[in-house]
Amino acid sequence: MIFEQVATGGCQSYLIGCPDTRAAVLIDPELGQIDRYLGLTAREGLRIRYVIDTHTHADHFSAAREIASATGAPVAAHRLSPAPYVDMRLDHGDMLLVGGLKLKAMHTPGHTRDSLCLVTADRVFTGDTLLIEGTGRTDLPTGDPDALYDSLFNHLLRLDPALAVYPAHDYKGRSGSTIGHEIAANPRLQNRDRAAFIEMMNHLNLSAPTHLTEALRTNMSGGKTVAQLLAEATAATPFMAMTELADRVASGDLGLILLDVRERDAYLAGHVPGARHLPRGQLELRVNSELPDPTARILTCCEFGYISTLAAQTLRTLGFRRAAALDGGMKAWREAGLPLDNGPAA
Ligand SMILES: [Fe+2]
Repeated sequence: MIFEQVATGGCQSYLIGCPDTRAAVLIDPELGQIDRYLGLTAREGLRIRYVIDTHTHADHFSAAREIASATGAPVAAHRLSPAPYVDMRLDHGDMLLVGGLKLKAMHTPGHTRDSLCLVTADRVFTGDTLLIEGTGRTDLPTGDPDALYDSLFNHLLRLDPALAVYPAHDYKGRSGSTIGHEIAANPRLQNRDRAAFIEMMNHLNLSAPTHLTEALRTNMSGGKTVAQLLAEATAATPFMAMTELADRVASGDLGLILLDVRERDAYLAGHVPGARHLPRGQLELRVNSELPDPTARILTCCEFGYISTLAAQTLRTLGFRRAAALDGGMKAWREAGLPLDNGPAA
């Protein structure tokens, strides 16, 4: 088996492939590593046949749909997954054939209702059901310690103790374990009393994952993350360096329409000399009356450089093909000691 483990922070993704046919599966891809997965696939001469999410992740952003659209491979997940972009919904016992590899889906609810483990001949991908000397938490949406007890003690831990264990997370830099090691040494599995296990899981007092709301929103809906929207706008927009704009201000002729897209109070408190005010929230409503020339060169600016990027992208979408955004924002402009005007536009 061709086996590549990709660690991102505490997240673990796996690319596994059949050495004879070069068919491959990508398990639990993370949004920030798309180029890496595709690069590994190319380097190893593999073709991704399935992208599998072991469960609805609450702590990081799944790249499943992006990998699927880049490769044409279907997204597979448990049938209870709420994600609308899942193409292949798996039941307990379903097996995927990937060249000469066989992956059997084992439904192991508990961490989430839609948790799967994927069993191959010599290893098991345990998602967040079983971690190395730990288990997935059960206090996030659809978590259930009673179900996790059954999934662990009545299913997963009954597999061959020699099977290697590869979880979706490890925060201590470890790469894998075995079922036998976990039975012997996992501190959460030493007391086999159901009530004691549930009591322990209900009192872990863990803090909420950093991106909980956004991860659940995007992973459950197929919607985009804010970072993705910004990255798309950045890729679709040219920028102007702050030094270039400063030179133009100094020369007394901007040679373009400079649009400050912040709210009114921020604009009045200090803007680039010559900047006009058109807040981002009113851009589409006022564009026809305030920007009659679609061939004009327009530069947007805002406080940090993000909203101005979105505004420039919107203008380009509307047909202002020479719209660009300032690289940086008014915060950096002020900190650089560059000139400011106060009050309404002259
Ligand atoms: Fe998880």
